[in-house]
Amino acid sequence: MIRLEQVTKQYDMGGGLTVLHALNLDIGDNDYLGILGPSGSGKSTLLHILGLLDRPSAGRYLLHGRDTGALDDSERSRLRGRMIGFIFQSFHLLSSLSVQENVELPLHYQRVGKAEREQRAREALQSVSLSHRLHHRPNQLSGGERQRTAIARALVTRPDLILADEPTGNLDQKTGQEILEVFDELHQAGKAIVLITHDPAVARRIPRIYHIVDGHLHEAPP
Ligand SMILES: Nc1ncnc2c1ncn2[C@@H]1O[C@H](COP(=O)(O)OP(=O)(O)O)[C@@H](O)[C@H]1O
Ligand SMILES: [Mg+2]
Repeated sequence: MIRLEQVTKQYDMGGGLTVLHALNLDIGDNDYLGILGPSGSGKSTLLHILGLLDRPSAGRYLLHGRDTGALDDSERSRLRGRMIGFIFQSFHLLSSLSVQENVELPLHYQRVGKAEREQRAREALQSVSLSHRLHHRPNQLSGGERQRTAIARALVTRPDLILADEPTGNLDQKTGQEILEVFDELHQAGKAIVLITHDPAVARRIPRIYHIVDGHLHEAPP
């Protein structure tokens, strides 16, 4: 599904800061991989590149064989909306909307009609066991329920690839384990998943682990 070839990311901070150094990475259609590294090691930068939110300074990113560097911003955002679901540490839910409305939002942007939006949002929420919370607001939910809502929002567009940046970082141990069980189910359902974490206990559950250290990527022995 994904191939990174010699992907480098630099920021122009007087002298230049190289955050990612010539990364090579292949991700298959149903791979579940974890990227483990300390704060500041380049994890989010890599996830933003994989999610087409940012571009490499050098190197190539192929998605389903297409060179994403050749796409303009509107083609990239269309591809992102169709193929990729994001999950963040801090959930990023809109507090003024209900659970169901939050989950419908990506379909709004894709101009999906109301009846289909509602049905798909309910299905996505059912898949994360939240059918009993459709009309709650985010501030009426537990942390685990908020993250389940965010997962449903990521799933509602039926992405092939799920990108998760520290998805258990704001949750207690037990709730974090429950969220990781949801990721196991997504993997079993055929999704490709890239999960970023700085927590070795989270990484231990993931089949394929890479370490990122000072912007260099190393595959850990299985
Ligand atoms: N837009 C930016 N401009 C300049 N430096 C940045 C920018 N984004 C991230 N960085 C720097 O890149 C490094 C890696 O950041 P990041 O990918 O967020 O790390 P992580 O997610 O592993 O904590 C950090 O040193 C950070 O300060
Ligand atoms: Mg980060």
